[in-house]
Amino acid sequence: MTNPVICAVDTTDIDYANTLCSKLSGHIGMIKIGLEFFTTHGPQGVEILAKCGIPIFLDLKLHDIPNTVAKTIKGLMQLDVALLTIHASGGFEMMSAAAQMAAQESERLGKPRPLVVGVTVLTSMNETDLAQVGIQNLPDSQVSLLAKLAKEAGLDGVVCSPLEIEVVRAVCGNAFKTVVPGIRPEGSDKGDQKRILTPKEAMDKGADYLVIGRPITQSENPAQTAKAICDTL
Ligand code: C5P
Repeated sequence: MTNPVICAVDTTDIDYANTLCSKLSGHIGMIKIGLEFFTTHGPQGVEILAKCGIPIFLDLKLHDIPNTVAKTIKGLMQLDVALLTIHASGGFEMMSAAAQMAAQESERLGKPRPLVVGVTVLTSMNETDLAQVGIQNLPDSQVSLLAKLAKEAGLDGVVCSPLEIEVVRAVCGNAFKTVVPGIRPEGSDKGDQKRILTPKEAMDKGADYLVIGRPITQSENPAQTAKAICDTL
């Protein structure tokens, strides 16, 4: 099994991020870089972190018209990125354009195709928040609807909360990837995460990738913590 642990490096401090990545090299499967880091350091920042050898998950959660999202993916593929996110609520055409561009560019550039995964419902949104933006579905049903659409559009998987892994599996089958944040190893601080599972529980439910940030990054020995997490799986 390839290492399913993705460490979220949520910082704007490039030296800190770089040191952390060097320490974690060989102990995790990917590093996740978000908008916070990307807006500060841009593509060059990603290139610097990529030098540590850990595959990059660029979590920019793209959401725009199909043409703009596809062109953005084309641009991002100048970088070596293993996983990219877009919003599934951007619709079938947008997701389809994104998936096609990733495939087309990987062939043209002769580099591995990044996985393109869809963000379903942000875990910060509950039933009331969805109703406020005109969505009458309960979060679970909305996740299931968007995951099915994402699969039909050719995406590789979705980002979902630990509590939605089984819903996504039921609708989309086992080959469709689930990227799961909200993971807390036994005994670690919950922080602001509310709906959580342990790494082992999430894997048992069928998660493909576990996004874990602070329990690794804030620990005294990030490499050792990452290794201890992997040992539980
Ligand atoms: O530090 P922690 O383990 O909570 O970090 C989890 C990472 O996953 C953060 O980068 C957070 O923004 C992200 N995330 C999340 N919940 C989601 C989507 C992304 O916690 N639904």
